[in-house]
Amino acid sequence: MDLTSLCFSSSLPKMLLLILLLSVSLFPNWVSSLGINYGQIANNLPTPDAVVPLVKSIGASRVKLYDADPRVLKAFANTGVEFIVGLGNEYLAKMRDPKQAQDWVKINVQCHLPATKISCIAVGNEVLTFNDSVLSSNLLPAMENVHTALVNLNLDKQVVVTTAHNLGILENSYPPSSGSFRKDLTQRLTCILDFHSKTGSPFLINAYPYFAYKSNPKQVPIDFVLFESDSGITDALSGLHYGNMFHAQIDAVHSAMEKLGYKKVCLQISETGWPSKGDADEAGATLDNAKKYNANLLKLISEKKGTPMRPNLNLNIYVFALFNENMKPGPSSERNFGLFKPDGTPAYNLGFNATSLVGSNTTTSSGGVAGISPESGFSPPGSSSNGYLSISSDTERLLVQGTLSFWCKLVSPIIAFLLY
Ligand SMILES: *[C@@H]1O[C@H](CO)[C@@H](O)[C@H](O)[C@H]1NC(C)=O
Ligand SMILES: *[C@@H]1O[C@H](CO)[C@@H](O)[C@H](O)[C@H]1NC(C)=O
Ligand SMILES: *[C@@H]1O[C@H](CO)[C@@H](O)[C@H](O)[C@H]1NC(C)=O
Repeated sequence: MDLTSLCFSSSLPKMLLLILLLSVSLFPNWVSSLGINYGQIANNLPTPDAVVPLVKSIGASRVKLYDADPRVLKAFANTGVEFIVGLGNEYLAKMRDPKQAQDWVKINVQCHLPATKISCIAVGNEVLTFNDSVLSSNLLPAMENVHTALVNLNLDKQVVVTTAHNLGILENSYPPSSGSFRKDLTQRLTCILDFHSKTGSPFLINAYPYFAYKSNPKQVPIDFVLFESDSGITDALSGLHYGNMFHAQIDAVHSAMEKLGYKKVCLQISETGWPSKGDADEAGATLDNAKKYNANLLKLISEKKGTPMRPNLNLNIYVFALFNENMKPGPSSERNFGLFKPDGTPAYNLGFNATSLVGSNTTTSSGGVAGISPESGFSPPGSSSNGYLSISSDTERLLVQGTLSFWCKLVSPIIAFLLY
């Protein structure tokens, strides 16, 4: 029997269950790996209650906030979605006071647990690359005090403390094996890495191949940044081969961490994405490129591939961003990173064709599309012909579908054995 048709046969629900069961034992965590940044610098976004089904429709099981918006944290109570909450740069100075840090944790984290699954606090965002010495000097003390507050409240086993960095903390990024941190930041980063090492929290980096392309479109091959390169590059020093710039950027950070002696601290990707629109001078900011970048990124996430230097690392990627944010300052691209427009319709079709991937009916039968119920306030786009929204609302479904052909190849012999 043809194994492919077995996968697409009418016993699909059973198949999915089997694949899920198998994956639980063979490949823990692979199903719940899509994270999304939920930025809210806008005046036209839907209410958090209406965002819950949207997040589920793309199969995201992790959400990152830039604050600790109680409306969002309440809306997501008992959904199983895991949160990184943010503590804004403007609060860092206050957090030097242990009492204020404790109050912040009580009001913004403890109150929502355990109904809302907050697992991480990101203290400050891209602090070190503002080059503001006062702000930078407040970063680690703030992280330490927030961590101490968690310890005092007996929450440190379930909530970790970190901060997200801009890739600009690197001085060298090419080739990846030569990656190193800016010299003026080395001391601070050593102390921060030491904190991660002691508390078991991840080092977060915001990695955007888009910005590398934008600043140098004549030199940087677009297919390399969009995960579509035929040849890629080989790092002459390490001998490792890179098929895309995203992995090269991440491994440059790995090299930099290793140079400071922190090979074991876990690196995760707190932001990456591509704008679907930009100003005339913003090379590469097009709908087509955004679609390619994010579709290929989602494929990569579902395949659970690490980087050439860390093939088994779960990068825990958070895509930027859920929505286009109309009040973000800066060039047009800044306001156009969303997978969705403010009305909840996709900014573009991500090309995830649930129907064609699974070969059967995966739209919800409840009349709504993709779990966006009529009362959610969205008017779903025309029809389910939009592949993106035709994905089922089942949280894990997207990843199951996205990887189905891959898993069929890998596990179908085992399934066939189990079925017969
Ligand atoms: C911060 O300093 C670095 C290195 O001196 C420089 O390259 C970068 O442009 C500066 N960033 C800002 C936001 O001023
Ligand atoms: C998605 O599937 C539908 C129905 O099978 C098909 O008509 C359409 O061309 C597919 N789209 C893509 C992008 O594969
Ligand atoms: C999809 O499901 C609906 C309702 O269950 C059914 O009426 C329709 O024929 C199905 N379409 C396909 C292509 O199987």
